[in-house]
Amino acid sequence: MHELQGVFMPEEYPHSAQKACVIGWPIGHSRSPMIHGYWLRRYGIDGAYGKRAVQPEELEDFLLNLPREGLAGCNITVPHKEAAFRIVEQANPQGLTPLARALAAVNTVWLDEAGMLHADNTDVHGFMAHFAASVPAWRAAGQRVLVIGAGGAARAIVAGFMQAGVAHITIANRTEEKAHALAAELQQALDFRGNAKGAGLEALPQLLARADVLVNTTTLGMTGQPALDIDLAPLPDDAVVADIVYVPLKTALLQQAEARGAHTVDGLGMLLHQAVPGFERWFGVRPEVTGELRRLLEADIEQGH
Ligand SMILES: NC(=O)c1ccc[n+]([C@@H]2O[C@H](COP(=O)([O-])OP(=O)(O)OC[C@H]3O[C@@H](n4cnc5c(N)ncnc54)[C@H](OP(=O)(O)O)[C@@H]3O)[C@@H](O)[C@H]2O)c1
Repeated sequence: MHELQGVFMPEEYPHSAQKACVIGWPIGHSRSPMIHGYWLRRYGIDGAYGKRAVQPEELEDFLLNLPREGLAGCNITVPHKEAAFRIVEQANPQGLTPLARALAAVNTVWLDEAGMLHADNTDVHGFMAHFAASVPAWRAAGQRVLVIGAGGAARAIVAGFMQAGVAHITIANRTEEKAHALAAELQQALDFRGNAKGAGLEALPQLLARADVLVNTTTLGMTGQPALDIDLAPLPDDAVVADIVYVPLKTALLQQAEARGAHTVDGLGMLLHQAVPGFERWFGVRPEVTGELRRLLEADIEQGH
């Protein structure tokens, strides 16, 4: 068996214990072992969750041989989400959730009782669950959503709002063609009945004036990246502002929104909530995103890990 790195090492557990891990290339400082390790302890589960660097050329062999590794499944991170989708689609076409199929990217993989591969994209659940918990009074009907960015994470956010049934979604991106393409692709894939369109970043002032919800899904504002240079002045007073960047915990965008008295939704909650469905699949308990877990992650981020 290859070595799993992380908080929990499989050797510490008897052979019968359920095991899972996060894979990526490079895997770096993934926070997933901290999240799942917390839940394993909290629920007294005899299981293990580690992390594993898997190169792109090893991915197929890895996913098709999870039992050989003693794994019930895994989380998938950059750059494997799209390739993992294609591998599961080939191995078990029935094993993809409708959402995974629409997004053509997966982040959570598990085996069923017959040993068949299944996969889902839980980033959508992660963002929407945290959004609903942060703004409990929010209702999708009639809402105009403005999403900045058209990369991998934007796909999940746009899909979440389309599924929720908002009225309008505009995707504003530096590379404008990508915004148009994403809006059209997801509108069709999810049979979205509202209005979906793309735009360039220069249209932001006019778009902000008509937005009920603003979400940053770009890397801008992340520690080590340029700031998201945006003036929220045109935004309606009761708008909700979300940022999926979680390092730093409170981005300049969220600070500006808070200063205007807007409702804000941070990025850490999405990270915590996206882990819930995977844990339930592998370990049989639907875990709770507690304040204690959040503080554990906050401390880790603040220490600059
Ligand atoms: N909270 C969570 O659980 C969670 C989950 C997933 C991702 N994230 C965060 O979300 C962010 C995006 O991740 P991703 O996987 O979607 O990345 P990605 O696929 O590389 O997309 C990056 C996006 O940022 C835009 N961008 C990058 N540099 C820019 C610049 N200088 N000016 C204007 N736009 C710029 C890109 O525009 P172009 O298309 O023009 O290049 C693209 O829309 C990261 O910070 C990541 O950590 C958070």
